[in-house]
Amino acid sequence: MPKPKVFATHQLFEPARKILEQSCDVEYWTQTERPPRPEVVQRLTDKEGLVCLLTEKVTEELLRAAPKLRIAANVAVGFDNIDVAACTKRGVVATNTPGVLDETTADFAWTLMMAVARRLGEGEALARSGIWPGWDLDQLVGTDVWGKTLGLVGFGRIGRAVARRASGFQMKVIYTDAVRVSPDLEKELKAEFRDMNALLAESDFISVHVPLLPETRGLFDAPKFYRMKPTAFLINTSRGPVVDEAALVAALENKKIAGAALDVYENEPFIHSGLKRPNVVLAPHIASASLETRTKMACIAAQNVVALFAGQRPPNMLNPEVMKT
Ligand code: DGY
Repeated sequence: MPKPKVFATHQLFEPARKILEQSCDVEYWTQTERPPRPEVVQRLTDKEGLVCLLTEKVTEELLRAAPKLRIAANVAVGFDNIDVAACTKRGVVATNTPGVLDETTADFAWTLMMAVARRLGEGEALARSGIWPGWDLDQLVGTDVWGKTLGLVGFGRIGRAVARRASGFQMKVIYTDAVRVSPDLEKELKAEFRDMNALLAESDFISVHVPLLPETRGLFDAPKFYRMKPTAFLINTSRGPVVDEAALVAALENKKIAGAALDVYENEPFIHSGLKRPNVVLAPHIASASLETRTKMACIAAQNVVALFAGQRPPNMLNPEVMKT
């Protein structure tokens, strides 16, 4: 029996390659830059499986060009790059990588929060500049994180992992979400529920942990920034389009908020020039980028593919209705 043909848009990590190659005939994209669209289209014409990154858009048009495709395995938990409905229509299983990147992403949300509060970007630039004049009493004074109020917008796995970290910093944690968690969980995480407006008004740091959905696109718009404290900071490690960047830039320019720390952008890899200011910390979408976590993500994507071709249900199906049994 010939092995099913799979195209992986990245060479992944060795443990993931080993999993995939047990049962698949895999063609990898090995160049450093992301594959151009026509290349992806062309490579998929005879493939039954796709392992892709969040930079590849799995659209109706791509699926049409891939008549044999049975699975699109995303190496990311966020799957706004995949048209799941189109996959379902064509009987293609779509999968993601939930559960393995929560702690790593929470670490990074914390990194960003500390960096913007304590002006690490500016400090690092000064330390490297060769013109640091030495210690001074009011040099690069920032703001404390400990003891402040942390507002979490989205209280799923990552939001909760961020909440857990807050107790070591003696922070008050408030959260908002479409669904309020159980009183037991609120007690365990020492987190209090607020509606969005109350959270905006009360928080010193707001960290965003919602998926990109039609209802969360542009969630942080001008009225939201106007409700925040002028001393507050926005941290975003979720998806760029959750924040209206033009509104954020206006809020920063008009000092409606004190600063922001961002890992994600509306039109990656483009970064709005108005965000390149000292009170904004910018990272290039690396919140889950520890070797351990990225390796696990790649392995999970590989396991999803291998499971499907072994006649099993892939563990992380986004459209389970495609496989009826
Ligand atoms: C995801 O998985 O959705 C992140 O954005 C990348 O790790």
